[in-house]
Amino acid sequence: MSVSVLVGSQWGDEGKGKIVDILGDRFDIVARYQGGANAGHTIVIEEQQFILHLIPSGILRDGIDCVIGNGVVIDPKALLEEIHFLENHGFKVKGRLFISHNAHLIMPYHKVIDSINESGDNKVGTTGRGIGPCYIDKYDRKGIRIIDLLDKVELEKKIRRNVDEKNKIIKNVYNKEELDVEIILKEYLSYNEEITQYITDVPAFLDKAIKDGKSVLMEGAQGALLDVDHGTYPFVTSSSPTSGGACIGVGVPPTKISSVFGIVKAYTTRVGLGPFPTELLGDEGEALRKWGAEFGATTGRPRRCGWFDAFLLNYSRMINGIERVAITKLDVLSNLDEIKVCIAYELNGKRLESFPTTVSQLERIVPIYQTLPGWKTDITSIRKYEDLPVETKNYLSFISEHSGFEISIISVGPKRSQTIEL
Ligand code: GDP
Ligand code: IMO
Ligand code: MG
Repeated sequence: MSVSVLVGSQWGDEGKGKIVDILGDRFDIVARYQGGANAGHTIVIEEQQFILHLIPSGILRDGIDCVIGNGVVIDPKALLEEIHFLENHGFKVKGRLFISHNAHLIMPYHKVIDSINESGDNKVGTTGRGIGPCYIDKYDRKGIRIIDLLDKVELEKKIRRNVDEKNKIIKNVYNKEELDVEIILKEYLSYNEEITQYITDVPAFLDKAIKDGKSVLMEGAQGALLDVDHGTYPFVTSSSPTSGGACIGVGVPPTKISSVFGIVKAYTTRVGLGPFPTELLGDEGEALRKWGAEFGATTGRPRRCGWFDAFLLNYSRMINGIERVAITKLDVLSNLDEIKVCIAYELNGKRLESFPTTVSQLERIVPIYQTLPGWKTDITSIRKYEDLPVETKNYLSFISEHSGFEISIISVGPKRSQTIEL
């Protein structure tokens, strides 16, 4: 029996999709625990690329069951599109996908409110998928859950109540066009036909699976620094991508978790607004973006790029309890003569003891760098650690030592095969 949590350790897009796929053959069940269709997880098998937003990346491996936990917010249209896409590509979904009855639904008004919020002065740079407004309704106890699809009479009442309330805000506060409740009803009252078969009591399902000796990988979306509590608030997502979120997000108790695995990009990226101490502006950032093909898997937006931040990783390791990590996109650094790593932050001339999460402090800190020689060699065909250039090994040892984690997987390209296991 083993239950492991896999977390994005930076600001998302670390390569979680690829690594879940790699680890997938070692687990019986992969369970997604938070976020929604704001996520974009890429898996490349042979020459074919798959981008998944809601369904765990384990679905691409035969014999693995996949769970979408209560902590996930589900856009039913996006879910059905993803199911049909997978089925059209020959992957079996029916009988392998289990969706928590308690997961909340993204409604059309959530996306409208997300877009209205983003047009004002307090922009976060969201993905526009209605994530924040959906979690607001959940915590305001006004949300509509997957299980509500089963009772059409009650569902209609809830939708009418919510649309009426949101329309008042949309019209009177924002002076925007009201939503047509009849269109929303028609769409949402029809979802039970296809979705009912996946609805599951997930905590009971996982409890039995664990008792039966099955192993579970809990897949996080986003990354630790986008966590609503521990991230760079308010430039965060509205859920808990950190490992603690896994227990709440699927209903597995902390006593069952045996390990936490971090996914770490060999440099740093971030999409959307917010502080980014090691960001490279200008040509250097542009070059990293080009080499790493750093464009959002969900929105296509260019990702901001910068140096590896070991000070940030230390914080991420601490709040997640990360023991071992997979380092991804190491190949992207192969063009550089020299590579910088941030090892500390200074504020007002003093070294900081701990990572500051307030924007005002993060905007004023000075990153302290150490410069390492690059390797200037194509490493994408290397499959054994011993065969890596000495400069690459030194880089790996340096970031691992300064971040306090042990490296157990090294990814040197987007494909399944471009992986070195230690
Ligand atoms: P996720 O959200 O954490 O699953 O990551 P994304 O899929 O959004 O972004 C990671 C991107 O990097 C995808 O395009 C992957 O195909 C790609 N990728 C993953 N690992 C590697 C790697 O080791 N090298 C390179 N060059 N690309 C990688
Ligand atoms: P994966 O799982 C990177 C960012 C958005 C924005 C902030 C809030 O692919 O790593 P939201 O739409 O969640 O309200 O946006 O969070 N963000 C991500 N950045 N990877 C993601 O997911 C992200 N999901 C949300 O860009 O800054
Ligand atoms: Mg992504």
